[in-house]
Amino acid sequence: MDAMPGLHLLDHPLAKHHLTHVRSRDTQPGEFRRHVGELVKLLAFDATRDLRVRETTVITPLCETTGHVIDERVGLVPILRAGLGMVDPLLTLLPEAEVWHLGLYRDEQTARPVEYYRKLPEGNPVETAIVLDPMLATGGSALLALDALKKWGVARLKLLAVIASAPGVETVAQEFPEASIHVCVVDPELNDRKFIVPGLGDAGDRSFNTLGE
Ligand code: PRP
Repeated sequence: MDAMPGLHLLDHPLAKHHLTHVRSRDTQPGEFRRHVGELVKLLAFDATRDLRVRETTVITPLCETTGHVIDERVGLVPILRAGLGMVDPLLTLLPEAEVWHLGLYRDEQTARPVEYYRKLPEGNPVETAIVLDPMLATGGSALLALDALKKWGVARLKLLAVIASAPGVETVAQEFPEASIHVCVVDPELNDRKFIVPGLGDAGDRSFNTLGE
C-alpha cells in the first residue's frame, strides 16, 4: 500500500482485543454488536480530535474556570443496514450530532452498491460528516456515500469503518484524498465474491442475525 495521508489506523491493544471478537465466527449477534460498539468509540476518539470547540465559563464547586463545548455541526451518516449499529455508540459521545441515513446494499452479482434511501436536504449542509459503515470492501459504497455528501456541500468528510481491504482503502483515498479514513485494521485482499479476507463475514447479517435469510 502506498503512503496514504488520509488513512488513520487504530493500532491499540483494546482495538485488537475487540476486533478479535468481531472477527470470530463464534461471536453471537448480541456480543458482535457490543464489540462493534466499543470499536466505534475507540475510532471516534481519533476521528473527532480536530472538531472545533468554543470556550465557555464553567463554575466548579470551588470557583469559576474555562471550559469548552463542541462548536460545529456534525452529521453522522450511517449506511444501512450495518452502519446503524454504529450510531448509538457515537451519539453517547456526540449527543448533539445530526443523523442522516443512506440506504445502500451491494448487488450480489456485480458487487456494486445499489441505493435505496437518500434524503439529504437541499443546502444547509453539516460542517463535518462522519460516514459510518463497519466494512469497506471494494469501497464502492463508501464512494457513493462520500459523493452524496460532497454534493450536499459538506466541507469535511470522514469515514469510520471497523475493517477495510487494502484495495478498497486505496480506491477511496484516490477518489477522495480530502476525506479522512479511520479504521481498526486493513486486511490484504478481497476474495472472488469481493468479501474482505480474512475479514469478519457480513457485518449487516451478523449484527441483525439475518445470516439465514
Ligand atoms: C456491506 C457493508 C458495506 C458494503 C461494503 O453492506 O456493510 O455497506 O457491503 O462493500 P463495498 O465496499 O464493496 O461497497 P451490504 O451490501 O452487505 O448491506 P447490509 O449492510 O444491508 O448487510
